[in-house]
Parts: sequence; C-alpha cells; structure tokens
Amino acid sequence: MLDFSTKPTLSGLIVTLRPVEVGDVPTLRALMADPEVGRLTGSVHTSGGQPELWTPEELTTIYRDWMTASDRIAWVILDNDNGAIVGEAVLNRLDQDNLCCGFRLWISGATNRGLGTEAVRLSMGHAFAVGLHRVELDVYDFNTRARHIYEKVGFVLEGTRREALRFDDGWVDCHVMGLLATQWQG
Ligand SMILES: CC(C)(COP(=O)(O)OP(=O)(O)OC[C@H]1O[C@@H](n2cnc3c(N)ncnc32)[C@H](O)[C@@H]1OP(=O)(O)O)[C@@H](O)C(=O)NCCC(=O)NCCS
Repeated sequence: MLDFSTKPTLSGLIVTLRPVEVGDVPTLRALMADPEVGRLTGSVHTSGGQPELWTPEELTTIYRDWMTASDRIAWVILDNDNGAIVGEAVLNRLDQDNLCCGFRLWISGATNRGLGTEAVRLSMGHAFAVGLHRVELDVYDFNTRARHIYEKVGFVLEGTRREALRFDDGWVDCHVMGLLATQWQG
C-alpha cells in the first residue's frame, strides 16, 4: 500500500527539497519567527502579532517523528544559490484509501524569486509519481501570492470555509484548493 516512508531528496533548478532532519530545528525555528509567515499561514491573529513558537525540544520531538512518519513527508526547502534553508514543504494527511493527501509550504526571507513555485512543482511531481490521485490544501483569502502560485501549477478552487480565520477585528475566508493527477501538467 502506498505510504510516505520513503523520503527522497528532490532536486530542481533553483531549489532542492531535502527530507527534514532534527539538526534543521534551530534554523527552521528562527525562520518560523517571521511575522509574515505567521500571518499568512494563520498562526498570528493580529497585524503586529508575533508567532508563538514551539520550544526547540518540542520541535525536535515533532521533526524526529516526521523523519520516519509513513503518513507525511516534510522537506526543508534549500536555495540552490547558497544551500541555505529558506522554508518547509510538507505532504501530509495521507489518505491511503482515497489516494489523497494534503500539502502546505512556507518560505521566509527568500520570497518572490520563484523558489516557492518550483517547490510546489517538485512536491506535486513526487505526489503523483508515487501514485496519488489528489492533493488538497487550504489558503487564506488575503494570501493572494500563494493563491496565484497554486493556480499557476494547476490547483483549482473547490470551496470556501467562510470566515474561518479571526484576524484583527474581522474574519478571513479560507479557500480549499485541489489538484488531480489527471490534470497535473508537470
Ligand atoms: C506563498 C509562497 C510559498 C510563494 O513562494 P515565492 O517563492 O514567494 O513565490 P514565487 O516567487 O515562486 O512566485 C510568486 C508569484 O506571485 C506573484 N505575486 C507576488 N506578490 C503577489 C501578490 N501580493 N498577489 C498576487 N500575486 C503575487 C508574483 O508575481 C509571482 O508570479 P509570477 O511567477 O506569475 O510572476 C511564499 O511567498 C511564502 O511562503 N509566503 C509566506 C507563507 C505563506 O504564504 N505560505 C503559504 C500558505 S498557504
């Protein structure tokens, strides 16, 4: 049965996706403190808010578990220019019966250089190469950049969880997007 126990490194032109290691924790934790990442991923609820970070010990436990998990692959995103870790891409919530999984990613300090688009393409290439039929994700309405890159690689808007995120004095819709193997262009 299909699972995510095998965790390959995926090499692209401008990024490399390498399976996460516990040694990545200090770098990832520092990047997770980026308020823009917190806001756009819904973990910060006010304009000036700071992300609440896991402790290094908690993150080490989480990533140690993910290194061998059969229901997810967590990659660090490496900038091929200098080999630096710039973010994380994760295939998660594997549903073996329905050949479906979830996806999320974030990049800090290296946005708008094409790295995110290639990281999504590499992740989807792997998901469909191992036999998945469908990948789905959530994206907040105010995250127009993320929505743009997801649409660019073929994700389709499937529905909206209205006012799912509380932010400042208002509410933000959360869109559900999906990509099918039959529509994946590579
Ligand atoms: C979303 C994210 C992964 C995109 O990665 P990236 O490397 O910055 O994106 P790229 O450089 O590959 O592509 C950016 C594209 O968005 C466009 N863009 C930039 N800002 C935009 C905006 N505010 N609205 C719409 N499109 C925008 C660019 O023009 C470019 O499009 P093009 O390639 O068609 O010209 C990254 O910005 C990120 O992680 N942001 C913070 C956390 C986050 O949003 N995670 C996703 C949660 S769903």
